Amino acid sequence: MTPLPVTQTYPYVQLANWIFRPLDYMDANYRRYGDLFFARWGVLEWIFINHPQALKTMLSQDLGPAISALGDVNEILKPLLGENSIILQTGKQHRQRRKLMMPPFHGERLKVYAELIRQITLEVMDDLQPGQALQARQLTQKITMRVILQAVFGLHEGDRYQRLEHLLTQRLDMVSKPLASTIVFFPILSKDYGKWSPGAKIAHLSAEIDDLLYAEIRERRASVDATSSDVLSLLIMARDEVGQGLSDEELHDELMTLLMAGHETTATAIAWGMHWTHHQPDIRHKICDEIATAHASDDAIAMTKLPYLEATCHEILRIYPVAMLTFPRLVQQPLELLGHTIAPGTLLVGCIYLLHHREDLYPQSSEFRPERFLERQYSAFEFMPFGGGARRCIGYALAMYELKIILGTLLTHYDFALASDRPAIPERRGVTLGMKNGVEMIFQGPRQVATPARV
Ligand code: HEM
Repeated sequence: MTPLPVTQTYPYVQLANWIFRPLDYMDANYRRYGDLFFARWGVLEWIFINHPQALKTMLSQDLGPAISALGDVNEILKPLLGENSIILQTGKQHRQRRKLMMPPFHGERLKVYAELIRQITLEVMDDLQPGQALQARQLTQKITMRVILQAVFGLHEGDRYQRLEHLLTQRLDMVSKPLASTIVFFPILSKDYGKWSPGAKIAHLSAEIDDLLYAEIRERRASVDATSSDVLSLLIMARDEVGQGLSDEELHDELMTLLMAGHETTATAIAWGMHWTHHQPDIRHKICDEIATAHASDDAIAMTKLPYLEATCHEILRIYPVAMLTFPRLVQQPLELLGHTIAPGTLLVGCIYLLHHREDLYPQSSEFRPERFLERQYSAFEFMPFGGGARRCIGYALAMYELKIILGTLLTHYDFALASDRPAIPERRGVTLGMKNGVEMIFQGPRQVATPARV
């Protein structure tokens, strides 16, 4: 049996590479070590896996005795989300929390959000002036923030809603650059060291956000309405098998989790969509033709069913996956992975970025080519932007809806141009993969006819 390759670079250099040059770091290790290898970051060691078979083993056993999807290892997210977040729960508690939180994001419920997503997109676009320069990422973040605030709280307007929108955006923008992202990996840097330190700003913002969330929770508890379908109302009414509901602290942490996980990722993906569809205008024309042929430009549900638009959204999530890694899983019993025996106590992590760039699955993987998703079917362990198994993203269906409807609506109703012909450069944003300068564009104005303007 061959020993598992171990990356040899000094562990703190690896951590620095991971923070500042994550794609180069993963590509270099893949070229050197292949399907799975031990990465060492400071005191942390884990196996990076990018082979579909090994990912299948990891993600189909993470509810059984051999592998655990434990929450303690996600500690770095505690300062942002709170200790009661679903992401920090393990075992039975984690399963129960998922059962409570999944329903609002799936099935018939989701359809209610389709038209809402379209309306919010049009509403946010109303504020733009033709000729205005903008960063696509800021635009899409505004849209997805409003979608998640409405879906989660059922809030549309009012002072509290506007304050929350403003404060949450500020809180996330604090880690929007790679250097600032080090705060996430070294929580000691986020401590309050006096008035001008980033920690003081974080503490101040977090306190204001907490006040608003607790005020909303208290008001809703006092007037709970059994007919409401927003996530907060459903979580307030939910009871476990012994009739116990969630405490205010638990509700607060889950709201933060949904607000943060639920708009940051999606905003980045749609901004990439704006980049690719303008950098390769043929793709934009095909999408607009498809939407026009299906008479779907004002029909949000119809837009979610279009194959070329869906293939484009998959390619967006493949080429630069916003979540580069799955959450870690812990090996509990000796485990066979591609001919290696892995000892209990070892951490495994699915490397989504490397999986999505395997040439055996995605030839010319650095080319943006939606057609690849029409030419073959990929299994859940070959294409996995939302992870899998016990911690599979609970918002994946909502995220796909948002991607298709927001991108489809922006492309068919408005004209934009890229500020530069150069390809956008991927760059870390907190724990996610964003892009440098957020895709700079010019808004040219509303389109008179919702069909493609060929140039
Ligand atoms: C393009 C958008 C998104 C991407 C790429 C994404 C990706 C992911 C990934 C890779 C995971 C980890 C899965 C694993 O470890 O196997 C995850 C977990 C999670 N996502 Fe998403 N996500 C997106 C949007 C959303 C949205 C819209 C929501 C909520 C409305 C959401 C809420 C969550 C939550 C709560 C978890 C943790 C689940 C758990 O611990 O059981 N995500 N997501």
